[in-house]
Amino acid sequence: MSEQPAVPDLRPPADDTEATRLLTEGVIDLEGRMLDASNVTLVGAIRTAELAAECVYKPVAGERPLWDFPDGTLAGREISAYLVSEATGWHVVPPTLLREGPFGPGMVQLWIDGDEDVDLAAFVRRDDPALRRMAVFDAVVNNADRKGGHIIPMPDGHVYGVDHGICFSVEPKLRTLLWRWAGKPLTAEALEVLDRLGDELRGDLGEQLHEHLTRAEVRCTQRRVAELLRTGRHPEPSGEWPALPWPPF
Ligand SMILES: Nc1ncnc2c1ncn2[C@@H]1O[C@H](COP(=O)(O)OP(=O)(O)O)[C@@H](O)[C@H]1O
Ligand SMILES: [Mg+2]
Repeated sequence: MSEQPAVPDLRPPADDTEATRLLTEGVIDLEGRMLDASNVTLVGAIRTAELAAECVYKPVAGERPLWDFPDGTLAGREISAYLVSEATGWHVVPPTLLREGPFGPGMVQLWIDGDEDVDLAAFVRRDDPALRRMAVFDAVVNNADRKGGHIIPMPDGHVYGVDHGICFSVEPKLRTLLWRWAGKPLTAEALEVLDRLGDELRGDLGEQLHEHLTRAEVRCTQRRVAELLRTGRHPEPSGEWPALPWPPF
């Protein structure tokens, strides 16, 4: 009888540290392209000798030019959103990093299998604490595209956000479905997090962001945090920019 080849015992990453290791070191095998995406957004398997998962890979070369964001900067905005999300401790953004991929440098993000039983249209209207934190996060990063398909509820109540390619403009561009708390006082927890975030933006985090964003974009992020702390309230639609993403889902 011939001997069975050793089958590698691949397992999914147990936590964000392992996910980051997998995203950094893993070999990417592309499987398909998201057809509803506006940029070249590819999905593939990523594996090391030990870990395996699915990932999203958006090569910089596949970014569609936009009138209001400089070319070739969307991947860096996605990484920046991840760094801010980690600094809040809210883990809104799944592990995301910039690396070389099959079509050159791009952003690689852990694929998240959300709870498919959730009716998103109803969910996004809920007074859900995770959505409320996401609304604060979006105000900080100036998210111009928080549509329903960019919100991924998990079975355990956690809610992930994806697609942060058009964040961090120096112009106010907040476009979101999450206006439910507009004008309402920020929670004590949000105020505490924003206070800490403000300090970090003036220090190491600001420097890290500057690897991907302009000085002006980092400065405006600090200002948005300062403004949230000054008013102590969730922002309201400015009236100068469409406040709702289109299409909404
Ligand atoms: N990390 C992820 N996990 C699960 N689904 C994702 C992830 N990233 C994107 N998606 C899904 O793929 C779709 C297209 O990706 P998206 O990031 O919106 O691309 P684009 O920047 O081209 O609009 C999203 O609307 C979402 O449904
Ligand atoms: Mg999208």
